[in-house]
Order: sequence, then structure tokens, then C-alpha cells
Amino acid sequence: MPGIILIGAQWGDEGKGKATDLIGTKVDYVARFNGGNNAGHTVVVGNESYALHLLPSGIISPNVTPVIGNGVVVDPEVLFQEIEGLESRGVDCSRLLVSESAHIIAPYHRTIDKVTERFLGKHKIGTTGRGIGPAYADKINRVGIRVHDLFNADHLRDKVEASLHQKNQMLVKLYNRRPIDVNETTDELLALGEKLKPFVANTSLVLNKALDEGKTVLFEGGQATMLDVDHGTYPFVTSSNPTAGGACTGTGVGPTKIDRVIAVAKAYTTRVGEGPFPTELFDEQGDWLRAQGHEYGVTTGRPRRCGWFDAVVTRYASQVNGLTDLVLTKLDVLTGLEKIPVCVAYDVENADGTHTRYDEMPVDQAAFAKAKPIYEELPGWTEDISQVHDFNDLPATCQAYVKRLEEISNCRISAIGTGPQRDHIISIHSLID
Ligand code: IMP
Repeated sequence: MPGIILIGAQWGDEGKGKATDLIGTKVDYVARFNGGNNAGHTVVVGNESYALHLLPSGIISPNVTPVIGNGVVVDPEVLFQEIEGLESRGVDCSRLLVSESAHIIAPYHRTIDKVTERFLGKHKIGTTGRGIGPAYADKINRVGIRVHDLFNADHLRDKVEASLHQKNQMLVKLYNRRPIDVNETTDELLALGEKLKPFVANTSLVLNKALDEGKTVLFEGGQATMLDVDHGTYPFVTSSNPTAGGACTGTGVGPTKIDRVIAVAKAYTTRVGEGPFPTELFDEQGDWLRAQGHEYGVTTGRPRRCGWFDAVVTRYASQVNGLTDLVLTKLDVLTGLEKIPVCVAYDVENADGTHTRYDEMPVDQAAFAKAKPIYEELPGWTEDISQVHDFNDLPATCQAYVKRLEEISNCRISAIGTGPQRDHIISIHSLID
């Protein structure tokens, strides 16, 4: 099973880190293909918990080569902080490979992310403030800085100048800020480039060779389907493609080399930042889910918005990603509920007062913003499921909940997370063979 894509089915934070790490011990390479340090994975190994933002989860497994693909935006300062943090805990990071054509998040991208959000006011996106959007904007505007640009001083100075020319006008004239110095920025980036050099490689070549030799590569997505700049809840999205197609463009590996597309979905739904979220709960049920599920962001610490499982979302994720498997996480969080509502479709009130039922995701975001969930109520369970390792040993109502989610999500559920530890998992179909 050489090429496996692992992505989020909802709005992120589905517990991909745990799933990636679980599969990652059996693969040779784990390659991140999109996003940057806006992501947040918590990987729990024994009593140790690792919060990763930019590094691929495979960094924790000694036999895995972790790769940062060309589709990722790399903040070198954050990368070194993360490497130093892990190495101080005895994790060897020397195997890491960083694509020479990945774009760099420079300090000015972080500045612009923050001032833009402030300027947008009530229209803000609620970004993580890490400079992700401005770095991708520069990539598309063709004024971005790539990793290999950091190794040539004159060339880099020229590129920084081109990039800052317009930004400084904007910072001074529109945002009333000081201009950013070209030489200072170039020197800073050159120093970071020197440190980055030992990790830099032609990762497309490395990954293609590995696949040709029958090695297994796990393509790890940051964020998730509903945050995809093309397929998500635009404009309340991130600036990259966390969907399955992004794995190919973000690593330089063709779609014919992909064998499996696995998405992770929580047994309920969460979201951080702004934007529509039909099943969001504003009452004590939402507070209960947040407390039970410890729903606070790994990257920003923000409390996550919480709501019931939305099958319109997971069905859509099956469609746009061509999913082969779903991994359902945090099922244990729902233990103790008498009834569990699950959204199966949306009701949208039209301008003339009539109503439209949507069984599939509305493309028009104005309709999505008004979508009211149509719920089906499923019976809950009270038994502790964290020690269960066989699907058939789950309480009957819990099994029925999973089976129903599988049916309405249009994808088989191959594994279930039942708690935070690595062994809190029920495997139904192998994710790797
Ligand atoms: P940005 O990626 O920082 O530009 O933020 C854009 C939107 O994506 C905001 O709503 C963020 O909260 C959200 N976002 C970015 N990364 C993640 C993630 O890893 N998990 C969940 N939400 C994310």
C-alpha cells in the first residue's frame, strides 16, 4: 500500500495527529503537503504529549522520514523552535527533509496577517495570525520567497525588495505602520537559510523514488476539507488545499501513485475562527461537549465552537476527496448522553419565506450561512468505552450510532478513537494493507 492520503473531513482538529502517528509507525515517509504552523496536532505517546504545528507527525517515529512538501509555507523561526523543543526531549529531528521549493513565511507576513485582520473588523476571518494567508498570497502573486532563494544573498535581497515594495506602501499609507527594512529582513532570512540548509532536499524526487521502490508514503494534510480555499466555506477558510488533490500538488507526486484516501472525523463537530457552522450549539450542551472533549485549540488556545455530527459535511468530504475510509475520533466524548442528534440535511429559508431542503452541501455560501440542521436522534450509551478494542464489544446503541454515521457519510468507518492514548482505538478495517 504505497501512497496514502490522510486528511480532515470537517473544520480541522479531528485528531489527525493521533491517526497519523498510528499509521505512521508502519510507513516509511510522512509528508505534509499544505498549510504551515497554523495546524496543531497533539500526539500522545505513552505519558508524553507532543504539540506539533509545522513538523509532520512522523517526526516522533524513529523509522519514519518526515517531509515538508512544496505546498507547505514554512516559518523557519517556528521550525527551529519546534525542532529544539523536540530535541530537548530526546526526539531526533535530523531525518527531516524540507522541500527546496516550499514558500517561506517571513516576519512581514505575520505583521500583514495581523493588521489585515484588524482592518477587516467585522469581516475578519479569525485567522491564526501566523502569516499563512499573506505567504500564500505572495506565492500566487509571484512575489514569494522559496526555500532555495535563501541560499543566494543578492538574489534574495532582490526578491525581498520586490515583495516589500508594495507592502511597505500599504503598511505606511493604509495601516499607519513603520516600513519594513529590506536589508535587515534579507540578513535575517539569510541566517535562517544557513540553519535550514542541512534539511533541504528535492522532496518530489525523494518521494517519487521511494514510491517507485515500493516504500509507503503517508501524505498528511493540515487543516481540513471545510477549510479548503476551493471546496470549503469560503471566505472563512485557510489559504491552501487541505483536500486530497492538494496532496499531489503539494508534494509533486502524481494521482496515479495514490492508493488510499483516509479522512478523520470527530463523532461530533468543532470549528475555530469565524464562519458558518450549522450544528453549532450555543447552550449548555455545547459547553458540555467542549468540557468533555477538551476542545481548546492546540495552536492558539482558543475555545473551539462545538456542535453535533453533521453528515452533510462528511458526505461532502467523501465526495470531494474520493474517500476510501473514515476514522471516527472522540466517540468516548459522547458517552453519557441519552439521545444524540445527528444532522442529516439542512433547511434553508429563502427570501420569499419558502423553505428548501438541502441533502447535499449548498455551494452558495449565503444559503449555507442560513442552513438550519435537520436532525435525526439516535439513542446514546452510558458504559465506559475507552477500554473496548473490538467493535462488537461496544454497547449496542454505540454500534448503531457508528453504523448510522457510516451510512449517511457515504464512507466506511475503518477505525474509532475511544480516548486520548495511542491504544484507545478500535480497528475495524486495516488502514495500511
Ligand atoms: P489561517 O489558516 O491562519 O489563515 O486561518 C484561516 C481559518 O482557518 C481560521 O478560521 C482558522 O481558525 C482556521 N484554521 C487554520 N488552521 C487550522 C487548524 O489546523 N485547525 C482548525 N482550524 C484552523
